[in-house]
Amino acid sequence: MAADTSGLEISARDLRLEQAFYGTIIHSVSPKEVQILEKGLLLIGPDGKISLFREHVEKSQVAGLLAHYSSGAGSLRVRYLERGQFLIPGFVDTHNHAPQWTQRGTGRGKLLLDWLNEITFPHEAKFADASYARKTYSSCVDGFLKQGITTASYYGSLHGEATKILAELCLEKGQRALVGKCNMNQNSPEYCSDSSAADSLAATEDFIAHVRRLDPEAKTVTPILTPRFAISCDRELLSGLGKIAQANPDLPIQTHFNEAEDEIALTKTLYHEFSNEADLYAHYNLLTSRTILAHCIYLEEYELDQIQQRGCGVAHCPISNTTIGGFMAAPIREYLRRGLNVGLGTDSGGGFSSSILDAMRQAFIVSKAREVATEGADEALSLNETFYLATLGGAKVCGLSDKVGNFAEGKEFDALEVHTMGADAGVIAPVEEEDGLDVILEKFLMTGDDRNIQKVYVRGRSVKV
Ligand code: GUN
Ligand code: FE
Repeated sequence: MAADTSGLEISARDLRLEQAFYGTIIHSVSPKEVQILEKGLLLIGPDGKISLFREHVEKSQVAGLLAHYSSGAGSLRVRYLERGQFLIPGFVDTHNHAPQWTQRGTGRGKLLLDWLNEITFPHEAKFADASYARKTYSSCVDGFLKQGITTASYYGSLHGEATKILAELCLEKGQRALVGKCNMNQNSPEYCSDSSAADSLAATEDFIAHVRRLDPEAKTVTPILTPRFAISCDRELLSGLGKIAQANPDLPIQTHFNEAEDEIALTKTLYHEFSNEADLYAHYNLLTSRTILAHCIYLEEYELDQIQQRGCGVAHCPISNTTIGGFMAAPIREYLRRGLNVGLGTDSGGGFSSSILDAMRQAFIVSKAREVATEGADEALSLNETFYLATLGGAKVCGLSDKVGNFAEGKEFDALEVHTMGADAGVIAPVEEEDGLDVILEKFLMTGDDRNIQKVYVRGRSVKV
């Protein structure tokens, strides 16, 4: 074993070496508990999996432990983290619209349906052009990786070819992703609509087959069924998608659910046979334990019971919820109390920010608003809880918590190396001599940004551009 202890950069982009990290390692072990280990040791195998995780190791023991546990087959890179540097699990973005990368920040304050018609549909129509899609999606995937989003659940546009390009780019650049061709064949302008249910379904089947050919074991990229929402899909389309879901028990599903008052009212008018959205999606076999429901703001008690019984995941998107339409605060405390799987979504560009750090901060603000509105009954989220939602909670929502979300042995190494000190630390609240590790973490989570995310790893591979 040739140990390189200098921290010298050996890009793991192509070389699959064993690597080890020693120093501060931070991750969630439950919604309320964040483990902060000052002297942690992680060994990552050439397969990108965590082969050893030790919580309390003296520096003098590191070489011996690595000599014992590493395969000894090739060279081993050992990274000794200094004060102010630490590892956390990669962020999981449970709800993200890749084609909206270029429209972020525009159309604030509009009602949801107006924002879709006036801003979003004209923009998404541009993805009929494959070269525009390649250029935009390349920048999008790079941009999210740069901000530490190691897993994203992406909505593509309606275009099959563009969405294939998105999946190819995720694979090439190494971002773990669920990628869906967006299904929408009604209530959008003809220039931004699937021409029929049959065409939409055929393009979906073709897209799924393409992604499965690209990554047969779904190591990095997985297709996901993506009915935009019931307003955008007619009965034939929802029914066809439900059949695909039933025929493919491994296929995840995502949609928008109870997001806004104008959306719920129109859904009930269009689908008058259902008295709520839970019954509607359940009828079409789309409300399952593999389903990611974005928003979940205005659920009736009955719907809450339904999504709990069915084990659906909730993608909480507090930035879009408070900047499109009114100020909508999803009852996340109640969801956590009931043990639902909840994660965070940037909903970029419904949300103006593409940063999970921003989503965490806004989740805190929104939960504070609910605490006030409920006179303390729904306690605001703690920092530990928002960190959980951004990592392990999100991994559960995406059905990936057996692979990622924290640093348990056997999981894949999706991680961020955070630097909070030094000339390149940006505008983070400066770390003071007396700051403990908990304060340094708090400063990063509340005031840090992508400049503090020095390295990003997915499946052990260094992927930050
Ligand atoms: N509902 C249907 N489509 C969308 C979308 O693109 N963004 C958001 N936030 N909600 C939607
Ligand atoms: Fe959305």
